[in-house]
Amino acid sequence: MTAAPAFDFSAWAAAHRAALDPLLVGVFDGVWPERLRLACRYPIETGGKRFRPLAVLAAAEALGGPAPAAAWVGGVALELIHTYSLVHDDLPAMDNDDLRRGRPTVHRAFDEGTAILVGDALLTEALGHVARAGLPPQLAAALLVELAGAAGARGMIAGQAADVGMDGAITEVDALLRLHAHKTGALIRCAARVGGLAAGASPDQLAALDRYGAAIGLAFQLADDVLDADQDAKEGGPPSYVKLLGVEETQRRARALLDEALEAAGTLPAPAALQALGRYTVEREL
Ligand code: IPE
Ligand code: IPE
Ligand code: MG
Repeated sequence: MTAAPAFDFSAWAAAHRAALDPLLVGVFDGVWPERLRLACRYPIETGGKRFRPLAVLAAAEALGGPAPAAAWVGGVALELIHTYSLVHDDLPAMDNDDLRRGRPTVHRAFDEGTAILVGDALLTEALGHVARAGLPPQLAAALLVELAGAAGARGMIAGQAADVGMDGAITEVDALLRLHAHKTGALIRCAARVGGLAAGASPDQLAALDRYGAAIGLAFQLADDVLDADQDAKEGGPPSYVKLLGVEETQRRARALLDEALEAAGTLPAPAALQALGRYTVEREL
């Protein structure tokens, strides 16, 4: 017997990214005023890893067969929500960043009011995209429950609130874990669940995807903190795992989370893309 060929993650990701881009941009076709349409497209067209929609698609494919239409719809919605979170996160009242992905942030390329409106539009259109997609009503409702839950005050927003200090200074690893389980983890965990729901996962399969998503969501942030270690070390920089635990322990924890994710994915029928995405999360250089 010959060994199965190794999974080509780069080719898989490139093909899926290329298919996602027109779907993302197309959400704003026909939007008026023209300047709003251009401003909504701008943060999408500046790129990004498209990690969350790739996780949706990989989770759906893990159940066997190509990702169904519902997974593409859910992936697009999740990337719009992620993009909105970045547009608002960069605003002067939040992180006050001038650059995102090496390009001027939306409030710099346009103006602050436009950036607020773009965020509002991306979030609302994300949910509308799912609601309008013609999915079976029960599936549409289930996806909306996941997306709204992960994006809202019990999800990503809770993490952003903790990040701006609403729960006090972050000096303990447990507090940082809680912050990141919400700020970054909620949308990534949601991605795995949305992929599973879209592809008709059984309760056991959904539970495995949930475990995968929770582990990878946290591993993503640990890896991010290692990548940003130099930049975050400066006075007044954000709390980070590297500051609290050191680089080695942060990397060790990321590896342990990856193992947990690989094991959970391994219980599914076709985990190659999901496992490769997990490895990429921890080993990426961007
Ligand atoms: C950046 O997310 C913000 C975090 C939640 C850590 P990504 O690293 O996924 O950003 P892009 O979309 O690839 O630029
Ligand atoms: C952005 O987090 C996360 C969200 C918008 C949910 P950070 O502020 O830590 O990440 P960057 O540095 O802006 O990408
Ligand atoms: Mg920020």
